[in-house]
Amino acid sequence: MTNTDRGQWRSRMGFILAAAGGAVGLGNIWKFPYVAGMNGGSAFLLVYLVLILFLGLPVLIAEVMLGKATQRNPVGAFKALDHEKSPWRMIGFMGVLAAFMILSFYSVVAGWCIEFIIQGAKGAYSSSSSPEDVQKLFAALTSSPSKQILYHGIFISMTIAIVYAGVQSGLQRVCEVLMPLLIVILIALIVFAMKQEGWQKGVRFLLEPDASKLTPNTILAAMGQCFFSLSLGMGAMLTYGSYLRKEDNVVSSSAWVAVMDTGIALLAGFVIFPIVFTFGVEPAAGPGLVFVSLPGAFQQLPAGTIAGIGFFVLLLAAAVTSAISLLEVIAAYFVDEFKMDRRKVSIGFGFLCFLIGIGCAVSGNFFDILDKTSSNYLLPIGALLISMFAGWVLKREIAQSDFKDTKFAKLFGLWLSSVRFIAPVLVVLVFLNKLGVFK
Ligand code: PHE
Repeated sequence: MTNTDRGQWRSRMGFILAAAGGAVGLGNIWKFPYVAGMNGGSAFLLVYLVLILFLGLPVLIAEVMLGKATQRNPVGAFKALDHEKSPWRMIGFMGVLAAFMILSFYSVVAGWCIEFIIQGAKGAYSSSSSPEDVQKLFAALTSSPSKQILYHGIFISMTIAIVYAGVQSGLQRVCEVLMPLLIVILIALIVFAMKQEGWQKGVRFLLEPDASKLTPNTILAAMGQCFFSLSLGMGAMLTYGSYLRKEDNVVSSSAWVAVMDTGIALLAGFVIFPIVFTFGVEPAAGPGLVFVSLPGAFQQLPAGTIAGIGFFVLLLAAAVTSAISLLEVIAAYFVDEFKMDRRKVSIGFGFLCFLIGIGCAVSGNFFDILDKTSSNYLLPIGALLISMFAGWVLKREIAQSDFKDTKFAKLFGLWLSSVRFIAPVLVVLVFLNKLGVFK
């Protein structure tokens, strides 16, 4: 395929919304609250925000820059910038491994949304259902592997069908509607949350500093969440960058993506924790947090059924746009490296993810291992390598051209030292801290 028929984003806003659509997904609305809840809330949030700024943003700029400069997939990009047998191709390989692991459990969680849409249609969020019953829905779902496998199968089939048909170009239009709608529904839910008795408790949980909760695990989890949420460290954002037009600005586009992604996670946090405290849900309840807490709130809303169904439909749609970018990384790798047929690759490897995902539906432990290994280890190592590549191997002129003659010209030095030193050192420090070196 030549560069001219790869297609490009329609406008800068188009890129921002499409890339934000790829980044915004279950990571913001399902994972962020549950990981924050398990890691002490405010301590986690503070570290998370600091890492987004000093680690996430520079690496995001690096990935988008590498994609834009080469207009290639994650493996091809490193070959093009270095040489055919470049060891940096490893990044592409690790990214594919991460994509397999993430897509497998991601699809199971997305499948949970389908159940909550169906339950909504059956009237679970109407005021006539009891709050106790709606809280039990999640436990009932997770104790039924067959139901979870069915939904997981439906979700992964949808993802495969889109990648197979190559209609990603339509993605931009979907994201242009999806992102604003998601923000609107979250704001509406915040207004509801503000009126609940748990509002202050929820806000305090997220904002009141408590250094005692700042453990090595909290810091590691915050780093993992930073990369997971921004889709970094595995080439997904590099792929998005490869569709940028020459005149598009890498720095401001990346900054916007980071702002939208973080903003949506924060909105979700300020919706969920007040509701968690109002309904007496345990903040550290784990992966079921959103599914146990929100349905109870929908029951109290005047148009609860519509709000609830609408919410889970939007979440499902946001999950699809992220899942596509995961499968896309896998597909691009095999098509490029092994000259395999794109359609066969999407079906074959999508099916493999379906099989691995069955393990997640059956065993919470297996789920946890895939979730933690990918976010907390594979993505950070990938991000570390990408940032070193951009800082030390990539020709300076290429990197500089994305800053030169823009209002960000003065920030080039800061970005360069971030990807050369700050980001790699931070990742290593977080790992060493986790290993107990600083005790
Ligand atoms: N960032 C996505 C989310 O928050 C998940 C994802 C991770 C997608 C890595 C692609 C690559 O849901």
